[in-house]
Amino acid sequence: MIIEFDKTAPEIFYKLLIGSVLPRPIAWVSTINKEGVANLAPFSFFTVASSNPPVLCFAPALKFELVEGTQKGKPKDTLKNIQDTKEFVVNIVSQEIAEKMNQSSGSYPPGVNEFEKAGLTAAPSTYIAAPRVAESLINFECNLSQIISFGEHPGAGNLVLGYVKCAHMHESVYKNGRVDIDVLQPIGRLAGMEYCAVKERFVMVRPEV
Ligand SMILES: Cc1cc2nc3c(=O)[nH]c(=O)nc-3n(C[C@H](O)[C@H](O)[C@H](O)COP(=O)(O)O)c2cc1C
Repeated sequence: MIIEFDKTAPEIFYKLLIGSVLPRPIAWVSTINKEGVANLAPFSFFTVASSNPPVLCFAPALKFELVEGTQKGKPKDTLKNIQDTKEFVVNIVSQEIAEKMNQSSGSYPPGVNEFEKAGLTAAPSTYIAAPRVAESLINFECNLSQIISFGEHPGAGNLVLGYVKCAHMHESVYKNGRVDIDVLQPIGRLAGMEYCAVKERFVMVRPEV
C-alpha cells in the first residue's frame, strides 16, 4: 500500500507518522517568557542532533487557530518564548513523574506557569534564566542555535536546535561516567495516549570489519 502525502488528509498522515516513528523520547522543555513567567511542556519530536558540539533538537508544531473564518497556525508558548529569549532547558522524564509531565501538557493560556499547575519545583539554572525541573534527574541547559520552520499552517513543525551549555545530573543517576537506566527509568511516547517504559533490554555486539 502506498499512502501519498498530497492525497491524504493531514490528520491521517499525522497518525501514520506518530504510529510509525516510535517509541519517541520526550523533551520536557522549560522556558520563560519576556515577563519572566516560567513555562513547561513536553515534546516527543525530539532527539540528539550532534554530540561535539552537543546539540539537542525538538519540534513544536503550530497550533490551530481560526482567524476571521480562516485556519491559521499559531506558535505554542514554548516556541514563542524561545524565539524571544533564545534559551531553554530540556528535562528528562522518568516514569515516576510521568503524570506530572502529562499535566504540564494542557493548553494553558500564555503566562500560566505549568510548574505550579503540575505541582513541580522550579530550580534555578546555572547559565540561563529559564528554570529546571528539580524533580527531573537530568536537565540540559541550552542556548538556541537555530529554528527551522516548515510552514505557516497548523501542524507545521518548527525544528528548534540548541547548544547544550551544561548537563545537571542527579548523583543517583550518574555513576562512573555512565547514566544508570535502572535509576533513570525513562519513558517513551507511542501513538495516541500510549506510553512505554523500558521493561526488556538486549545486547548486540557491533560487527568487526
Ligand atoms: C508526551 C507528549 C508529547 C508531545 N509532543 C509534542 C511535539 O513533539 N510537538 C508538539 O507540537 N506538541 C507536542 N505535545 C503537545 C504539547 O505538549 C502541548 O501542545 C502543550 O500545550 C504545548 O505547551 P506550550 O503552549 O506551553 O508550549 C506533546 C504532548 C505530550 C503529552
